[in-house]
Parts: sequence; C-alpha cells; structure tokens
Amino acid sequence: MMNVMAIEGGIPLRGTVRAQGAKNAALPVMAACLLLRGQALMLDNVPNLYDVSTMVELLSTLGVSVDREQPGGRVRLSVPEEVSWEAPESLVRKMRASSLVLGPLLARCGKAALPLPGGCSIGSRPIDLHLKGLVQMGAKIEIRSGVVYAQAGRLRGRRIYLDFPSVGATENLMMAAALAHGETIIENIAREPEIDNLAAVLAGMGVPIEIEGTGCVRIRGVDEVHSASERVIPDRIEASTYILAGVMTGGQITVADVIPAHIDAILARLEEAGARFAVTRNAVTVFPVERLQSVSLKTMPFPGFPTDLQSPMLAALSLASGVSMVEESVFQARFLCADELNRMGANIVIKGNTAVINGVRQLQGASVKATDLRAGAALILAGLAARGQTQVEEMVHVWRGYEAIDEKLRSLGARVRLAGTPAEGEQGA
Ligand code: EPZ
Repeated sequence: MMNVMAIEGGIPLRGTVRAQGAKNAALPVMAACLLLRGQALMLDNVPNLYDVSTMVELLSTLGVSVDREQPGGRVRLSVPEEVSWEAPESLVRKMRASSLVLGPLLARCGKAALPLPGGCSIGSRPIDLHLKGLVQMGAKIEIRSGVVYAQAGRLRGRRIYLDFPSVGATENLMMAAALAHGETIIENIAREPEIDNLAAVLAGMGVPIEIEGTGCVRIRGVDEVHSASERVIPDRIEASTYILAGVMTGGQITVADVIPAHIDAILARLEEAGARFAVTRNAVTVFPVERLQSVSLKTMPFPGFPTDLQSPMLAALSLASGVSMVEESVFQARFLCADELNRMGANIVIKGNTAVINGVRQLQGASVKATDLRAGAALILAGLAARGQTQVEEMVHVWRGYEAIDEKLRSLGARVRLAGTPAEGEQGA
C-alpha cells in the first residue's frame, strides 16, 4: 500500500459504506485458536488489515496453518497437535495485540515466552494486569531481558479482580481460564462488545462461559476445546469514523452492517452537538447540518465514549461553534494529532489530559503526518472537510485498522488518491 493519501477537501460525501469486521474483535478471536489441538477455527467477516496480517504471521510462526479467503473475510485457522510456545520479538514489537497469545499458549502448552510489547505513541501500555491474573491462576512468571517467561502445570480457576477493566487483560485471562482446572470468576472486566465476541468463540469451542451484567465473567475450564465457527462483529470505531466523515463534510452517509447499540455513546454526543441521523436495526444514516455545536466529553471504558474515537472527534469539534473540552482518561498521551490539526488551522490547546478546542469556521489543507492509527483517521477527516489539498503521510498507521479506506471514501464521492513511496516493510495487506 502507498504511504501518502492526497485529499481534495470541501466535497460533501454521499452514499453508503459497509462497516468492516472489527479489528479489535478479530485479533483476540484469532489468538483463541491456539487453545485448539489438531482442530480448526473458522472465522467470517475478518477485515483485511495490516494488523490482521501481522496476527496471521505470528500464528503461522507458532505453527498454525492460516487460509484467508478475501473478499468476505473468511479465515480458517488449522492448529496442529503441537505449537511453538515462543512468540518472536519482531512481531510482538510490531503489534501490542500480539500479547494476546500469552494466555492461550500458557493454558495449552503449560509455558510461554513473550517479549514485552513496546510502548507506543499513545503511552507505555504495560501488561501488568495480564501477568497479575495469570500468577493468581498459578503461573510462575519471570522477566529476563525484556522477555516474559511464563510456566504453569495446569492453571487453576480463581476469583480475579481486575484493578482496571483492561480489554487485553480481560481477553488473555478469559482464554487462559478456558483450559484451567475449575471455575474462574473475573470481576471488573472490560465490557467492550469485542469481549462478547470472544466469549461467543470460547462457548462455540465448548467452554461453559457466562458474562453477568455486573461486569463479571464466569468460566468453567475444560480439558479440551473443539473446532468452532464464528462471525466477527462489525467495527464500531471504523463505522463511527465514516459517520463523522458525513458530519464534517455536510454530506449524507449511510453506514451499513453496524450494531447501533455499540455506538450509543457516540450517537448521544453527536446528537447533543446538533447532528441529525436515522438509526435502523443495522444501519445509521447521517444527514447534513449547518454546523455542530461544541460539546464536552471524557473518554471512558465501554459503554462510555471510546478512547479510539477521541482523535477523530477532536477533528470534528475543531469545526464546531464554541469551545469543546475533551478529556482522555484511558491513555496517557493520545492527543498527538492536535499539533497536526492546528497546522490545518484548528485551535486546540492541550492542558494535561484535556484538549480545549476553540471551534473555527474552516480548516485549510496542509501536509500532515499520522502518528498512530486513530490520529491518521482524524487527519483524513480533517482533510476531507478542509479547503484545498491535504497530504496525509505515514498512511502505514492507517492501513493497520481501516480496510480500503481510499476506495470506501471514493465510493462516497471523495477526491482521494494514494501517492508517495510504498511503506517500508509493507505487507500485502
Ligand atoms: C485495546 O487495547 C484496543 N486494542 C485499543 O485499540 C483500545 O484503545 C483499548 O483496548 C481501550 O479500549 C485491541 O483491542 C487490539 P487496555 P488494550 O488494556 O487491550 C492500561 C486501536 O486504536 N493497562 O484496555 O491494550 C493501558 O496502559 C487500539 O484500535 C495497564 O496499565 O487496552 C491503558 O492506559 C489502540 N496494565 C489502559 O490500561 C495492563 O496490564 C487501557 O488499556 C493493561 C492495560
């Protein structure tokens, strides 16, 4: 894929796009295949993304045979009797979600070696909650030269309380509990919809699992799991990004194959800001409005306003009338796109973990750089709304989570084209 997107802004976008399969559901459910022994996991609606390719590469390195049928996103993961229990550093460093192989590998092999995932541009992102839960289940954990070595006879079911409703820790511990001896109760779990998708896959594999409304999950460990087939849920963050594209360009966009309940917090904030949309069972249509009003919000774990939509929302509120306040409570430093938006004429001031956004009438096209996946999406949205030409560089970040975003935008009437050198180390996404 090319590493620069050139955008001619100011065109109201119109039409229908279909939400991709959720990146943050596909990655954990793919890792869950490692619980199988000589069986296969069939997945549908897996998005065609760099991060999915990285997970395919990681699982293949561990011994899993992966067949991908595109389009349609059907992936077959055939797992041999024996798999490697050592995750290669190069891949773990490339994608934090690689740490999701730790729980299943430890549960199934009795040991696992995982290089500590590096920090990234949005914060240090440790995995201390993952490790603490595994130790409570009987694992011996040692960290030597930046590699986590975990050993366990058979993990034992326990009652575990998560100090923070970490998505990754919830997922790793659910997968570890699937083959543990006895029942595991995890309290204060993440409530993101992607957790329910993983629970459905584990249940499909024969694991008795029950998510209770109180933010607690009960899992009765089994000796063996069996083949399963499951569909990946729609990507609520990608879907919301296209809804914001409609709002920001004064167009009319229908996002199909979305689950409205998954984006309640986003629709509530947009409605408060004066956006108008129609919601059906599996689609959202956004209608043109003159200009958004400013709103204030704080990112929170689900069902609160998602941190993954914070940067795209900064872009949208840059054009709202009045002063908006956006507080980031999940990650340490996730306002990197503010500087780049300001280069396009936005007026955003960062004070600690709060962005103060003084709305402006118009953004100007400019050459800007994506620093992470969602910052890249925010800059593309800004470019679509701005007057003149915008070049978004470092698109390699965007290809990690937005399938065919250039084609989808062109199908809505956007004037975008890819240019520049191919991303270094690019894969055939
Ligand atoms: C998942 O990351 C998502 N990634 C992220 O999406 C998302 O932003 C995040 O959840 C929050 O919703 C995937 O699902 C692959 P966390 P994860 O564990 O699991 C701290 C995107 O753009 N923490 O809920 O890493 C951590 O540092 C990506 O699609 C610990 O301190 O998120 C962070 O500040 C970005 N110790 C906060 O909790 C731990 O052991 C949330 O982390 C684990 C987490």
